[in-house]
Amino acid sequence: MRNVQFTETVLRDANQSLIATRLPYSKFEPILTTMDQAGFYAVECWGGATFDVCLRYLHEDPWERLRKIRSHMPNSKLQMLLRGQNVLGYKHYPDDFVKKFVQKSVENGIDIIRIFDALNDLENLKVAIEETLRCGAIASGTISYTTSPVHTQENYVKMVKELKEMGVQTICIKDMAGIMGPQEAYNLVSAIKDAVDLPVDLHTHSTTGLAFMTYLKAVEAGVDIIDTAISPFSGGTSQPATETMAYALRQLGYTVNVDDKALIKMADFFKPIRNEYLKDGTLNPISMSTDTQCLTYQVPGGMLSNLLSQLKMMNALDRFEEALVETPKVRKDMGYPPLVTPTSQMVGVQAVTNVLTGVRYEKVSSEIKAYCRGEYGKTPAPIDPEVQKKILGDEKPLEGRYADTLEPIFEKTKEQLAGVARCDEDVLSYIAFPQLAEKFFEERKAREENVATYCIEEA
Ligand code: CO
Repeated sequence: MRNVQFTETVLRDANQSLIATRLPYSKFEPILTTMDQAGFYAVECWGGATFDVCLRYLHEDPWERLRKIRSHMPNSKLQMLLRGQNVLGYKHYPDDFVKKFVQKSVENGIDIIRIFDALNDLENLKVAIEETLRCGAIASGTISYTTSPVHTQENYVKMVKELKEMGVQTICIKDMAGIMGPQEAYNLVSAIKDAVDLPVDLHTHSTTGLAFMTYLKAVEAGVDIIDTAISPFSGGTSQPATETMAYALRQLGYTVNVDDKALIKMADFFKPIRNEYLKDGTLNPISMSTDTQCLTYQVPGGMLSNLLSQLKMMNALDRFEEALVETPKVRKDMGYPPLVTPTSQMVGVQAVTNVLTGVRYEKVSSEIKAYCRGEYGKTPAPIDPEVQKKILGDEKPLEGRYADTLEPIFEKTKEQLAGVARCDEDVLSYIAFPQLAEKFFEERKAREENVATYCIEEA
């Protein structure tokens, strides 16, 4: 029977979805050797919010974290998530930064780069994919999955064929909101497998409760890899449990090469850590439960809570229903972007503003303006021309790729940081998160000076 492979997400997505990436390196180091022998296709461990949180809250150098993971996991493929031309941030960067970031990620230990774009604009994936391939790593071309009149199976298949042309070695279907149902998974995976002979990986979240069923039907349709999290960090806004999927798939006659003894060790290791975070409030039990609102409103869970808190701040909670109705309308006007960072925030804020001002698009954020100018790339469907005209006035939208209008940034920043940055990795951290990196560099220096004084006294 066919073999199904697993990508373990506990170090990245599960950690991000359940406890806002607060797991420090020191906490999971003791389990890395076991994980290295567990037989996963890959271990997702970097990207997404890791960088931001390492620098902002954990006083960790994200690059050093990656090197340490690499040294404890010599046998595993380490995977990271990259937002195409946005790299790890919320805006587009010039190509020299994207390339240098990819180079250094691979040099520091990354084997697989999962590359996606919030709008599924291939122009935003191109540079990152080319550079990944040039560096000898695996480029996983990713679809940001959403539903809309223009997000048809046909269009997804077209995208996958183009990704293959671009040289990606695997395809990932990324259902960040957990809205893909079992039948949709079956149809889409079948269509993709028919169209290209590449391994297909399905990534979903348990948020709405569909995930186990969705994986099962995806496997039936021929999916090669599924993303799961070790049980104590599974479920809810995280991924389905690794052990449960392995158990069910074996029962159905599939070959699963994960090592059960290693999984038990991992679960035993992460259970007390989970309990500790539950106790101190880092882990909210609500994140571990099922929430079907997203299926009713087609608005991801995180976005609903943002809408609520925004209205509460403005003392307008009674307008919630209106804002909820307005959200899909704004999304339609904007050309049906998948609702994922940063488009979810942009659309949500605009919907609330439209409701509260009473005149649609009278007030717009600078991000929405930039979006309408084309600075985030090509939208899935055209932006409503009247809305675009109202927002941009006489200004003409961009033709071509926004990144082409940006000046190279790496060498210039490196010169600026002479004496502060110790290596190219420092420069990259600074370009991605200037204030956070600056603070981190200062802290690091202070820490070392303390250690140095201490050593001298000891001598
Ligand atoms: Co995810």
